[in-house]
Amino acid sequence: MSKIVVTGGAGFIGSALVRALLEDGAQQVEVIDNLLTGRESNLEEVRGKVKWHRADICQYDQIAPVIAGADKVFHLAAIPSVPRSIHDPIPSHEVNINGSFNVFRAAHEGKAGRVVYAASSSAYGDTEVLPKVETMQTNPKSPYAAQKLMGEYYASVFHSCFGLETVSLRFFNVYGPRQDPSSPYSGVLSLFNKCLIERKVPTIFGDGEQSRDFTFVEDVAGLCLKASKAGPNALGKVYNAGNGGRFTLNMIWDLLQKIEGVSLPANYGPPRAGDVKHSQADTEAARRDLGHDPKFSIEEGLRRTLAWYKASEAVAAR
Ligand code: UD1
Repeated sequence: MSKIVVTGGAGFIGSALVRALLEDGAQQVEVIDNLLTGRESNLEEVRGKVKWHRADICQYDQIAPVIAGADKVFHLAAIPSVPRSIHDPIPSHEVNINGSFNVFRAAHEGKAGRVVYAASSSAYGDTEVLPKVETMQTNPKSPYAAQKLMGEYYASVFHSCFGLETVSLRFFNVYGPRQDPSSPYSGVLSLFNKCLIERKVPTIFGDGEQSRDFTFVEDVAGLCLKASKAGPNALGKVYNAGNGGRFTLNMIWDLLQKIEGVSLPANYGPPRAGDVKHSQADTEAARRDLGHDPKFSIEEGLRRTLAWYKASEAVAAR
């Protein structure tokens, strides 16, 4: 039976990937998570079908035995958030760089089959040209962006120097069910959904005309699976994991108010340090080499996400 390991598997994206793997017929899925930002409840319905390891990727000895012999490793464990990495850069440096090194090292020394690494669209920084293509010069604007880029370099070097199979996917502003809205560092769409349900006004940093390629979590999980099965020409490479669209925050907040049938004009605050102005993925290389085929329009993704938050509020209120 082939072993599949998901680091960060109790997180919002990791748990969607775990469900996708099980639906795809995976027999032995093992989750590594230290529950810093992940939650066991994210895996509630599949808890009996996965092997759970409460372990920290910064502790090599904790994760090496789990990763050893794995057929596939999906490395999603990270401390996310651009502003968090600016306010407090040490923890994210340790996890996103040193922890990622430990995962690649454990995969190499433990003779794992392939590592799919969750990189970030933040690596591009502000480019003059949109959409952003993998061949563009990277230009990180925050510690988080630099850390995630370093992980890509390690993925590529573990492939070229040690023969480890790796594929890096630059995630573009992933959103969807289970994204935790409880921290000021939470992804903007989780915060918008919370505001909408609580009939509160969100704060938009800057003029709200910054744009993002918001990508539904199930499309990203699907692409991770495809990357784990892709042919040899994808190895050691980096691909955009985006939807290919681009929406401003003003557009998204308008759309959410329309879906919900309410009027809650947003507050505007100063622009956020380290913020990228516009982000949009060129999806051609991922479509060509990995078979990327994102399914969810922004409207459909937002509807599903809002429905999930409402249902989970209802459960919490019982
Ligand atoms: C960045 C990366 C993304 C990565 C994420 C991890 C880019 C383009 N994207 O996301 O790929 O997954 O880090 O954390 O670099 N905002 C508000 N009000 C709020 C919160 C946020 O207006 O209450 C704004 C931010 O200033 C930003 C946008 O919403 O302009 C998105 O912010 P956020 O959800 O934190 O993600 P990014 O920093 O874009």
